[in-house]
Amino acid sequence: MPKLRIQKTAGALGAEISGVDLSLALSDETIAEIRAAFVEHQVIFFRDQALTPEQQLAFGRRFGPLNIHPYVKGMADHPEVMEIIKEPTDKVNFGGGWHSDMSFLEKPSIGSILYAVELPDWGGDTLFASQAAAYEALTPGLKATLDGLRAIHSAGREYSSAGHSAQKRGSMNVVEAEGAVGEYAHPVVLTHPETGRKALYVNPAFTMKFEGWSKRESKPLLDFLFEHCRYEAFTTRFSWKPGSVAFWDNRSVWHFALNDYPGQRRHMRRVTVDARETAAATREAATAQ
Ligand code: SIN
Repeated sequence: MPKLRIQKTAGALGAEISGVDLSLALSDETIAEIRAAFVEHQVIFFRDQALTPEQQLAFGRRFGPLNIHPYVKGMADHPEVMEIIKEPTDKVNFGGGWHSDMSFLEKPSIGSILYAVELPDWGGDTLFASQAAAYEALTPGLKATLDGLRAIHSAGREYSSAGHSAQKRGSMNVVEAEGAVGEYAHPVVLTHPETGRKALYVNPAFTMKFEGWSKRESKPLLDFLFEHCRYEAFTTRFSWKPGSVAFWDNRSVWHFALNDYPGQRRHMRRVTVDARETAAATREAATAQ
């Protein structure tokens, strides 16, 4: 297998990789190269792939255990594969706001691998924003304040019956999370376990407040961060074609699925790589039931 060709897509993050067929059983050496590109560029893109759900699962598992989403039902035969579908009649899309995936888990998810099956004739791009660049652009004063803080994350707001995700039931099987959700504290500044680079780790979808602060006290600083973190210079934009793949690092990247294709269909498949500790805890909980 020839060495991967890697082309950056923007200054802050993103790289397109060519010279690899993700449907194959790739060597450990190629997977290590992909992983190195993934942690360096924070989101990596591939074109012209043809992946069955089984092949996407096999590729994802090379990076860690795969998540079964607690609130969005996966494919019948493959619960780890989430189908992200917007039908022509749907008004709201899934992921149509800045967020990172699964920060409501006890251990932050490693990454998400999204494969494009069917796309609208125009629109439906995804934006990505580097939270490492967002952290690095802060003043030393604010960095020092944030370095010592933790924030509380919960799926309750997004996946409750009143939440944004509840409106998508037409095309996606979203389960209400009422009473079923935990709250977990994560550092506001996450040191990447593989690169040592620091990134902001707050999430407009799932961060409720700072630990030890009230929601009212937290709101002004969280609002500032939510605004700061999506500054254009921290972003890259990906225009999908059928067969495109994006693999982003949930520990240092936000993303935003644009909802600018009314009356058209968009169909994607996602697998999400868990931290190893999350997978172990999920297995333990399942055995205890
Ligand atoms: C997501 O938030 O995982 C969906 C992103 C997309 O559909 O582009």
